[in-house]
Amino acid sequence: MADILGRTPNPLLRSLSAAIMGASAATILTGGILGLSKLEKQQVNQWAMSAGLGGAVVGSVFGGFVKPQPVTKQASQKQEKGWTDWRDFVVFRKEAESQEITSFYLKPQDGKPIPSFKPGQFLTLKLDIPEQSRPVIRTYSLSDYAVTPDYYRLSIKREGAPQDQAVPPGIASNFMHDHIQEGSVIPCKPPNGKFVLDVQQPHPAVLISNGVGITPMISMAKAVAAQNPDRPVWFLHGARDGSYHAFREAVPAIAPENPNFTVHYRYSRPRPDDDGGYQSTGYVDTALVKSLLTPKFGPNDAEYFLCGSPSFMDSLRSGLAEWGVPNEQVYFESFSKPVAKAAPVTPESDAAQTAEIVFAKSGKTATWSEFDGTLLEFAEEQGLSPDYSCRAGICLTCMCRLEEGEVAYDEEPSGSPDEGKVLICVSKPKTAKVVLDI
Ligand SMILES: Cc1cc2nc3c(=O)[nH]c(=O)nc-3n(C[C@H](O)[C@H](O)[C@H](O)COP(=O)(O)OP(=O)(O)OC[C@H]3O[C@@H](n4cnc5c(N)ncnc54)[C@H](O)[C@@H]3O)c2cc1C
Ligand code: FES
Repeated sequence: MADILGRTPNPLLRSLSAAIMGASAATILTGGILGLSKLEKQQVNQWAMSAGLGGAVVGSVFGGFVKPQPVTKQASQKQEKGWTDWRDFVVFRKEAESQEITSFYLKPQDGKPIPSFKPGQFLTLKLDIPEQSRPVIRTYSLSDYAVTPDYYRLSIKREGAPQDQAVPPGIASNFMHDHIQEGSVIPCKPPNGKFVLDVQQPHPAVLISNGVGITPMISMAKAVAAQNPDRPVWFLHGARDGSYHAFREAVPAIAPENPNFTVHYRYSRPRPDDDGGYQSTGYVDTALVKSLLTPKFGPNDAEYFLCGSPSFMDSLRSGLAEWGVPNEQVYFESFSKPVAKAAPVTPESDAAQTAEIVFAKSGKTATWSEFDGTLLEFAEEQGLSPDYSCRAGICLTCMCRLEEGEVAYDEEPSGSPDEGKVLICVSKPKTAKVVLDI
């Protein structure tokens, strides 16, 4: 009964439902008991009516005291009703957020509802780009939040070529900026990802980002404001200057919904006309985090969420650890492969030297040897085309079911695969036989 009532958010409706339930239960029970007694029919009716009234009063009071279930439970139930493979979405709005970041608003082409998602999750897109031999798959964090969304928003940075290298600029992000317009249709997979904030936790959440790493943080901050508005949230963000700073006004606008929401912007190279738009100069680092938080609470009183450039994350992760923040209270997501280390490292690997690999769906079997690279590279060598995006164990696009055997990771991937599944872009066979659901 409490469970049913808990799913009714309106207190009046809750009380009324509980009163009806109480009255029915008391009437049936009393009628049953008195029916066995030797009382007159009229007396039985009077007793049953009084019991019914009593039940209604007790029920309505009880209904008033039942706590409604947290919205997250309802949200996660909705999430389970999502789609499974690719679903076409239409871009209905495209909006520049900064010099290099543009938002794309997507609605499903079939007009049906879309599932909720956990703040911090991403969407996987498939783009048909003319010069590319196969569809390009990329993952983008959901940069907005609503308990019951009717659209998804992605905010994408145009990736230029690295300054010191003669290589082409980013394929998907430039295509999105240059060729995706209102009305364009993009196939998407359902929201996914494990870099998520548990909204109902009581302790402070410290959201630290730089550049386009701001995208999952907005979703997290909005989710807390909507569902656990008294929870302290610190939003620390670094940008080069105001022209590179996306969502500058949108983030403080969350504050009225959460009285414990603190925003701190730090610019590394502010322009004169940025005055008043940021709080400090330099890079977002552990010293800043400590200086802002120390008067209020100690290193292990909060949860930390990090998203940004690889060097920013490396520095904050080691700085927070030195400060005494337990590892399990630091969550992070990287959008790109970590920068290669100066000296090549030969990782300790548990991989077998040779193994029989069965690609169950494609009906192919081949012998892998230690020179064949990852299972993804090996599958491609065999003429297969499994989906992939980051090829670095981050985005989960290559995740597939391991039907038999075991695989070895040279380095623990930052994306954690679901139970019974593996990331083939960063794994090799560990046992003499491996069967994959490809
Ligand atoms: C979980 C997750 C969430 C993400 N969320 C977001 C988000 O919210 N917003 C966002 O903007 N991005 C996000 N990303 C990153 C995004 O998925 C893409 O990786 C990004 O847009 C770059 O893709 P691209 O196709 O444009 O670039 P790519 O074509 O993949 O190129 C990437 C970079 O490599 C360079 N390059 C090209 N060829 C070479 C070469 N031969 N050697 C060396 N370098 C080369 C390119 O110039 C470019 O700078 C996310 C990533 C992950 C894993
Ligand atoms: S392709 Fe991204 S995790 Fe494998």
